[in-house]
Amino acid sequence: MADCFNHMLSVSLVFLFSVTSLYGFKVDRYGLLMPNVRPNVPELYLCTPIRINFTTNYYIVGFEPNATMNTAHHMLLYGCTKPGSNKPVWNCGEMASTSEQESYETASVCESGSTILYAWARDAPKLELPQDVGFKVGGRSPIQYLVLQVHYATIDKFKDGSTDDSGVFLYYTERPQSKLAGVYLLGTAGMIPPMTTEHMETACAISENKTIHPFAFRTHTHSLGKVVSGYLVTTDSRGRHHWTLIGKKDPLLPQMFYPVANQVSISEGDILAARCTMVSERRTVTYIGQTNKDEMCNFYLMYYVDEGEPLEQKYCFSRGPPLFYWQSLLNSIPDKDASTLD
Ligand code: CU
Ligand code: CU
Repeated sequence: MADCFNHMLSVSLVFLFSVTSLYGFKVDRYGLLMPNVRPNVPELYLCTPIRINFTTNYYIVGFEPNATMNTAHHMLLYGCTKPGSNKPVWNCGEMASTSEQESYETASVCESGSTILYAWARDAPKLELPQDVGFKVGGRSPIQYLVLQVHYATIDKFKDGSTDDSGVFLYYTERPQSKLAGVYLLGTAGMIPPMTTEHMETACAISENKTIHPFAFRTHTHSLGKVVSGYLVTTDSRGRHHWTLIGKKDPLLPQMFYPVANQVSISEGDILAARCTMVSERRTVTYIGQTNKDEMCNFYLMYYVDEGEPLEQKYCFSRGPPLFYWQSLLNSIPDKDASTLD
């Protein structure tokens, strides 16, 4: 285990230098890159970790992809309290393949405390964190490891023995950032009946005395998702709900973080709501699950807080259809707007 870990560091600690001038304070760059892997089966998801120093807090203020779309289909960067494996590289496929020729151990991305910090996919616009905003990692924060996941869709280019070092350059500083970033994940359980359009919906009230400012969102479904939308819902004195769109996307587009549709502030008692509109032409019921035959309904909200720590509340999951719909909690639902792209 210790050997693995040293090896892991020696292969990853390749790029490390100062980029102070861009930020006005000392910022370093670290390459979290695949340690020259050679994917041997198509549709492989590989993960590689780094452990962050637990004696110091670091603030991640920027991400720069090191990947090309003809090698990596997409990349996700996770923060974990504990990683899914102690290996330098493992198979962390959501759509887990069980091929026998495959040479990597299979495990989840994180064993605990999973948060998505960054996502890259082809043609995706670059996302900068707003000024003074950073993800606090290391120290006593819940993010003790960073795990890079790369999806290799096709493997033709590895047949000649070549290897890959796709990854992300992290820009980080020890200087505390005044606005800490966090990610809030909305999602559902539930099922989609055959040959129907179904709404998978969730909604939760913020129950902490904090104000959060979303600046980016990401949607995730598998193949049946048509539109995923997320809203801030406020309640007036007569109990009427007012809906403000935070983000809406066709989940078949690259599943990146995109800038929010409206800049809003969300305080205690406000409600966050998300809907996935799913269209099934299947003859069988589709359930929420990990594989291609299953579905997922996820809306990620990346935000910062004016002061203090990010929300302790990190998830808003409902039981989904047929057990939960917005109408059981909310009124004035923007039914058409929530399910159509403009
Ligand atoms: Cu992909
Ligand atoms: Cu999924």
